[in-house]
Amino acid sequence: MNTTRQEYHKEIESSMSQKTMKRILITGAAGQIGSELTMALREKYGNDNVVATGRKTKPSETVLNSGPFEYIDVTKKETIEEMIEKYDIDTIYNMAAILSAVGEDHPQLCWNVNMNGLYNILDLAIEHQLTRIFVPSSIAVFGPETPKQNTPQETVLKPTTMYGVTKVSGELLGDYYAKKYGIDIRGMRYPGIISNETLPGGGTTDYAVEIFYEAIKNKKYTCFVKKDTMLPMMYMPDCIKATIDLMEADPSKLKHHCDFNVTAMSFSAEDLAHEIKKHIPEFKCEYKPDFRQKIAESWPQTIDDSAAQKEWGWNPDFDLAKMTEDMVNVLSQRYESKGF
Ligand code: SER
Repeated sequence: MNTTRQEYHKEIESSMSQKTMKRILITGAAGQIGSELTMALREKYGNDNVVATGRKTKPSETVLNSGPFEYIDVTKKETIEEMIEKYDIDTIYNMAAILSAVGEDHPQLCWNVNMNGLYNILDLAIEHQLTRIFVPSSIAVFGPETPKQNTPQETVLKPTTMYGVTKVSGELLGDYYAKKYGIDIRGMRYPGIISNETLPGGGTTDYAVEIFYEAIKNKKYTCFVKKDTMLPMMYMPDCIKATIDLMEADPSKLKHHCDFNVTAMSFSAEDLAHEIKKHIPEFKCEYKPDFRQKIAESWPQTIDDSAAQKEWGWNPDFDLAKMTEDMVNVLSQRYESKGF
């Protein structure tokens, strides 16, 4: 790649002035965040301008019926490139990933999807002069040696999971590409994400979603972390808001690229069960920790996200009470009308 930074910027400016609309590709669009992000971006930029992609999992009917959907494999560069060319893509949200729990069962797969997938996308960003890339990171970048309370933006990054290793490496790789090639690449360290459209797949924070489905359906839940396990979390509407706000932020205000700390709330598993009980009094939760306990214990409990507040105005809307009320309402109505 011989293009210098200045040449690259000039080319981007001229290609941007020719393009009035964003042409977005989302990888992992059948996943927990990707599925809702697809719909939010389609709403904002127009259905046909947002190409949802996945590898194997069939996306929701909502995603499938509202705009283009294609199967790609992020570990196969040519499959991404084909879509960039076919749809004249200028922006990618790379949501495809193997999460922490599955990553411990399949570390090689986790490395391959999370790292080689990202590497392919960053190379394609240079080769096709893409204007902006979103790469999610995670609280999994932190490890047992990181301060657990009010975890700073700049701190020890020594994760003990393969997922965490790929996320730290992804942040570094993204920062490297941003500096060396001038690519506009942005990302944040998502905490556990709670949602009610698509179930999360294979993460450690999944209990904070499963508990709602089980509370509504069976009035009981067996939680796979101890009751005093506290982790930072965020409700999906805030996750979508954070993602789009960061991607739209004025580049001149951003000092960080791929590693913004963000949070909305922190609670223990027991706090969450108590909050659900306020709405479903007969709900009972018991605790049977498995291998995911150790992963949860290696992550922070509360996060300092002041850099995100300062650089792009991050401010969440949902706390534990508001999120729980909304989750219970949405899922109860769905269960009554069609079950799950
Ligand atoms: N939710 C993710 C996981 O539990 C953390 O980013 O793996």
